[in-house]
Formats: sequence, structure tokens, C-alpha cells
Amino acid sequence: MALVGVLVSLVGLGAVYLLRYELARLGLGLATYTHDAGAARQLTVPMRDGALLQTQVYLPKGGPRHPTVLIRNPYNIANVFGFVCGVFVRYGYACVHQDVRGRMGSEGEWTPLAHEREDGLDTLAWLVEQPFQDGNIALWGMSYLAAVQWAVADRLPPQVKTMVPMVFATDAYPVHYGGGMYRHEIFTAWAALMPGDSMRLDHGDEYSAAVAHRPHAEVDEKFFGRRLPWYRSWITSPNRADAAWQNPALVAFREAPRQTAVPVLMFGGWYDFFLPGQLEDFRQLATRSESRLVIGPWHHLQRSEVDQPGDIGIGGQWRQTLNWLDHHLRGAPLEGPTGVVQTYVYGEGRWRVRSAFPPPDAESRRWFLTDLARAPHCAGGTLSATTTATASVSYRYDPDDPVPAHGGATVLAFAFRTFDAVAPGPRAIDGICRRPDVLTFRSAPLAEPVRLAGSAIVDLLVSSTAPDTAFSAKLMEVRPDGTTIHVREAIRAVSYREGDGEGPPKPYLPGSKVGLALTLSAIEWTFPPGSRIRLDVSSSSFPVYHAHPNRFGPWAEQTGADVATNTVHSGSRLTLPVARD
Ligand code: BEZ
Repeated sequence: MALVGVLVSLVGLGAVYLLRYELARLGLGLATYTHDAGAARQLTVPMRDGALLQTQVYLPKGGPRHPTVLIRNPYNIANVFGFVCGVFVRYGYACVHQDVRGRMGSEGEWTPLAHEREDGLDTLAWLVEQPFQDGNIALWGMSYLAAVQWAVADRLPPQVKTMVPMVFATDAYPVHYGGGMYRHEIFTAWAALMPGDSMRLDHGDEYSAAVAHRPHAEVDEKFFGRRLPWYRSWITSPNRADAAWQNPALVAFREAPRQTAVPVLMFGGWYDFFLPGQLEDFRQLATRSESRLVIGPWHHLQRSEVDQPGDIGIGGQWRQTLNWLDHHLRGAPLEGPTGVVQTYVYGEGRWRVRSAFPPPDAESRRWFLTDLARAPHCAGGTLSATTTATASVSYRYDPDDPVPAHGGATVLAFAFRTFDAVAPGPRAIDGICRRPDVLTFRSAPLAEPVRLAGSAIVDLLVSSTAPDTAFSAKLMEVRPDGTTIHVREAIRAVSYREGDGEGPPKPYLPGSKVGLALTLSAIEWTFPPGSRIRLDVSSSSFPVYHAHPNRFGPWAEQTGADVATNTVHSGSRLTLPVARD
């Protein structure tokens, strides 16, 4: 009997394997395939310095020439991109997939982004000479696979007609740091993943050890198995003005959206950490009137883990992509407008299309943080329209017992097996208000819907016993049944109260009262009638951000930490841009 069971399972698996493209097509809701898959071959493409990059070419059956999609990739998931190429091929595209320099089968040394411009240009120079392409080429890919597109975007040969860069932004500094605080869940996790020439998905324990270790500057050698000069330069460069962010290659990279000549289709997710920069890239795009940005209820992997009504999902992204490629590479009619930002509205389960996001005519609505004495308890202080008499509330912040993060956008580790990671997205939060180092403020139940469209701002008046510390803010929706959902969060070190490292950090006199503005990244979110707006204020959200050690000076070089008493004063407030459209 057991043998029969095994045989039946094997036959079943075999059938799924044979039908996998058809199952994917049905699952994604795509049109019937138009082509059969033809030849696939593996070759090496020489770069200007002689390094050979491993490259696979997938062709549809029939016809000598085809419109072509180029994908350049640093991750050892060639089977995934082989499958993606298989889908393109079945719609009549040739598909070229290449391992970037120093990764997997390609020669050379990999340093993030260091060689992608030269190698990308050399690969395109090779590709336009290939007999299988018909003079209509698209660049496609997400995240690092989008970075490699921007790296060549200002020098594309005329055969490249469009780019599809997804979940990525060209300005590196604000993705690494927010208010002077390092985003461990993104880049420390990524450094743990990428120390060699292929991914280390088993580095979860090393990641957890690294985020807790001081001084952080030595975690590469201590936990990731080798010195990573690129990671060291990131963690020891907390200011935008630092050389690490101002080298000519990164400056040119930030300029790429202003310099490109081809239309661009971008997908971004409200819970993807690249979204704020991606909005800026779209705002600056030279070809914006011919381009489109679609922002869905997705995290960095372009999906939602929490069911959202009206989500177009991966299938919707594929359908738009295929129509976009058909239009730009084959002249088919384009479905949908260009020059627009298409946004998914949480709470309404529908999409809006505008020429710009955030909408410039949003109305600023303000709530003051009041009833401060009640804020350390779950019943909480109040978000109210007017402020009350002078008051303050203090809590003890211990960097060795930081507030654990839950939900949100600035996370990536969740994508890696074995990493003990913060869950992405609009997650339900439970019980965190019981911690004495979390201050909670709630509005009255809303009489009418409030549609936040843009960046909420939290202006805090604060003081601390420490020479430096941080304050964090988390915006949430409280539903009538008490379920509380993460909307947005931000943090800022007191020494970064005047900006995001455009200049050096500003010393702070312990005990003095200072203003601290926290900008929460943009989102479109409708708080329904009957719900309440909740704002928590604290000093940590770990390991989304490093735990501030309450000491002044470069965070990654701190060998210890102190406990501080941190205080929030009346006059602190929350401002929401509320949509009028
Ligand atoms: C990514 O490819 O997903 C990625 C690239 C750079 C930083 C973080 C993530």
C-alpha cells in the first residue's frame, strides 16, 4: 500500500511539474500563452576587463528574432528566474538572464552596485549584436534587479524601449538610516545573507546575534564569517553628507531617473521599505508623462501577507507588465493611463489614480497628545483637538530591553528562511501598551472617515537624562472590537533633531527641552467611522532600528549602553494630511 501511495505521489508531482506553466498562468489570471518554449542555452559574456558573466538565453519556438527581456541578478535563485523567463518565452519574448559579477557562476568580485554600470553597459552592447533579438529590448526586475536597470538608465542603446524596475529606489542613504537610526531588519539582514558569492539563508542565528552585539562595527567578521568593507562603510556612515553616500557612482545613480529617456513601469508596495524613495524617483522621472507607478498593498516581495480586498496581487502586476511590454516592444495598444500614480487605499479596498501622490491639496488635521499622566497605561492618554495645561510624562528607556517591533514597512529579514524576523505589513499589535516604556494616546471614535493620504508628522517636545537618545512614534488604527493595526512608524535620535545627517549630529544638553519632528512615510489609509487613531511614543523599535545606546557618537562604535529617563512634554502633536479628493 505504502509503495502505491509513493507512486501516486510521484505521478502527481510529475504532472504538476509538467503543467507548472499552465498552473501558474491560471493562478495569475493571465491570457492563454501564445508561443511554445524553444531552445535554452547557457553561455558566458565577456566584460571589458575580461571577466566572464554566466548568462542563460531562453527563446520561444519559431521565428529567428524576438522582442527581448533582460534580467541581471545577484541571487542564487536561477530556478525562479528561469521560470520567469519561461513565462516571457511563452508570450513570444526572448529572455536573457545573467548572474551579476562575482555571484554564483560569474567571475570577479562582488561589491553591491560597484560594477553594475560597466557590466550592464557591456551586456547591452553584447545583446544588441545578438541575432535572436529584434531591436526591441526591455529591462525587467525587482529590488537589486531593478538597481541594475537604473545603473545604466542614462546610457541605454536605442534598442532598449522600456524598463520595469520594481520595489526599488535610487537614493541609498534614507533606506539605510531614518533619523540617524540604522535599519537592521533591512541591511544587517541583507549583509548576513550576502557575505559570499551566494545567499546564506542559514544565517538567521548570526543575524540575531549581530543586531544585539556591541560594537556593531565588528559583526561582519564575528558573525558573518568575513570582513565586508561595504557593510562597514554603511554602518560607520550615519550622515547623508558622509563620503559613503556621496561617491560619484552613487550621486550618478540618484540622478538616473532624471536622465533616462525611456518610459518606465514601476511597482511599489506600501509596506516596502523602498517606497518613499520610489515616490521621489517617480516625481523626478524625465519620462514621467509616459510612465506609471502602481503602489499596492504589498511588502518587498510584492505580495500581501494580510488579506486585502481588491488587491490585484502578483497576477495583476504580471497582467499590467505583459500589456506594457506588448505595447512598448510590439506596438500593441496600451491599457490604462500614463503619467499617473495608481494607489491602493487601505480601508476602502479600492484604487485611485492621480497625476501625483501625495495629493498636493490634502488638508492638515492636527491632534495634540494630552492626558499625559495616563499615557503609560493601556487606557492611554488622549489625542485631542486642543492642548491642555503644561505637563509631561517620563519613562525609563533601557537599550538592553528595547520595545520589540511588530509589522511595518522597514523589514526584509522575513524573506529569509531561518531568520527570526519582524512580520511585514499592517499587522495586529497586541499588548505592547502594557510595557512601561510605551506611551499610548488614542483619539475618540471617529464620527466620519479620515483618509490619510501622504506623510503623517509627529512633532514631539522631549527631554532626556542622556547626552543622546531616540524617540519613536507608531501610528495605528483601533477597530471597534479593539483590534489594533500597525499603519506607520518612525524614529529619530535627538542628535538628529535638525535633519537627516545633512550636517554632523548636534550635541544635546541633558535635561533641556527640544523639538523633534518624526515624518512617517506616505500611505493612503482610510480610518473608518467608529475606529480610533492611536499613536504610541517610545524610544525603540527593535530590531527594525538599532537600539539607541543613550550615548553621543557613532552608533556602530559604541561598546556599551546606558539607561535613560526620557520625557515627552505637552504641546506634542500628530498631524495627518487628510485627502479631499
Ligand atoms: C533586494 O534585492 O531585495 C535588496 C537589495 C538591496 C537591499 C535590500 C534588498
